[in-house]
Amino acid sequence: MSGPGILVLVGMMGSGKTAVAKRLATHGVALLDTDQLIEEAGGRTVRAIFEEDGEPVFRALEEEAMARCLAHPGHAVVAAAGGAVTSLRTREALAASRREGTAYVVWLRTGTGELARRVDKSVHRPLLDGNARNTLERLDVERRNLYAEVADAVVDTDGRSVAEVAQLVGETFAAAGGSWGSVRG
Ligand code: S3P
Repeated sequence: MSGPGILVLVGMMGSGKTAVAKRLATHGVALLDTDQLIEEAGGRTVRAIFEEDGEPVFRALEEEAMARCLAHPGHAVVAAAGGAVTSLRTREALAASRREGTAYVVWLRTGTGELARRVDKSVHRPLLDGNARNTLERLDVERRNLYAEVADAVVDTDGRSVAEVAQLVGETFAAAGGSWGSVRG
């Protein structure tokens, strides 16, 4: 039996999910980014969806995007946006995929001090308008247990480069029997 073919990265905004996923996605391994999928499907930016329709609508689109990622037929690395784990449906879908052995989930854990230093208040992060550090601290408290609940493994990113984190994630995935899990980085 082959191991999981879908590697899912979860963690806060600024934890490096997208950058690490880009490094891990190689020929034959699709790069799936939930924010990007939502923007492409709706022809609107994440910010526009928040501003025009509100956060609940964005969260529903995010659930659908996560479901599509977990149903991906081939090898894939998924950068799951920071808030994806707040959905019960998504947490249940992740748990089911882990039980079935199709997905492996890694939490990129980062201290809020480092997040606040790293995070860029880009167009796709309307929640960080205003005092980004306070918001990150609040969201970290709200979400910490949810990331822990859905994850098979934790990689601490503080003080580590994207290449180092990608190397550690690749090793962890390979050790878990990831079906494309030779070490990359
Ligand atoms: C969010 C994270 C963002 C984006 C949106 C909301 C969150 O994605 O989906 O701004 O609630 O944590 P990244 O984690 O890719 O920055």
